[in-house]
Order: sequence, then C-alpha cells, then structure tokens
Amino acid sequence: MRRMTEDNMKSAFAGESQAHMRYLIFAEKAEEEGFKNVARLFRAIAYAELVHATNHYNVLGMIRSTAENLQVAIDREIYEVNEMYPAYNAVAKLQEEKGAQRSTEWALQAEKIHAAMYQRAKQSVESSKDMPLGTIYICSVCGYTSEEEFDRCPICGATKEKVRKF
Ligand code: FE2
Ligand code: FE2
Ligand code: FE2
Repeated sequence: MRRMTEDNMKSAFAGESQAHMRYLIFAEKAEEEGFKNVARLFRAIAYAELVHATNHYNVLGMIRSTAENLQVAIDREIYEVNEMYPAYNAVAKLQEEKGAQRSTEWALQAEKIHAAMYQRAKQSVESSKDMPLGTIYICSVCGYTSEEEFDRCPICGATKEKVRKF
C-alpha cells in the first residue's frame, strides 16, 4: 500500500475505534439517565463504527490468524504492563494527578491478567484446540478480570453487584 494511504487508513482506524468506544460509554450514561432509545442509538452507531474500523484494519492487512492475533494482543498487553502504564503512573504521581494515578494503576493491574490469559489461549490455539475457559468476571468499576467469582474486588474494593459476567 502507498504510504499516504497507509497513514490515512491507520488514522481512520484510530478515529473509528475511538468513536466506537466513546459511543458505548455514552450509551451506558444514557441508560443510567433513563434514555433507553438514545442508549440504543449510541449502541447501534457504535456498531457501525466497529464495522468501519474493521474495514480499515482489514485494508491494512492487520487481520491475521487467531494465533497471530493473540500474539499481537499479548505484545500490546505486555507493553502496557511493562512500559506504558508504569511511565504514565509515574508522571501522574509527579504531577499529583490523583484520578490519572488511580486509573493507570487499575488498568496496569488488569492488563497483567489479560496478558496471562491470552498466553494460555495462544498455547491452546497453537495445538489447534479451543482454550478451556469458564465464566470470566469483570469489575465494572476498575476492569479487574478474574476467572473466579469474588465478593469484593481485590483491586478497587467494589462489591459483587458491580461484577459483569462473560
Ligand atoms: Fe464511522
Ligand atoms: Fe487489557
Ligand atoms: Fe474493581
């Protein structure tokens, strides 16, 4: 692909990805405020942005086999754990930005678990088997990710009602 087109596709992928996430976040808020149809509008359009992001990503040749995709996911999670979040957290501390300190710490803790889970998935997929996996529990406050049910989130202390199951 020619360079300017490649740069444009990457930038369009980033923009659509952020729009997708932003609309899902806005949908949650609309739901909380009792605007059910507005929430549905945000979710539907978030899905259209996912389609756009997928198409740009595909044009870039970035969609590969699941084993390769898992390696990409592992590399990114490990980068976040070892470099990105420790650096962001250090700056947040230095600048006494409490909110940023907390959100980077919460993310860092969960990304460690994500990296490990993806590693396990990759091992299974490489021997042509789906991974053995039970219910996954996610804390909706901090994103803590666990394969075991918990009463209180060990990272943020949130109670059971805050857990979402997958
Ligand atoms: Fe779009
Ligand atoms: Fe993650
Ligand atoms: Fe939590």
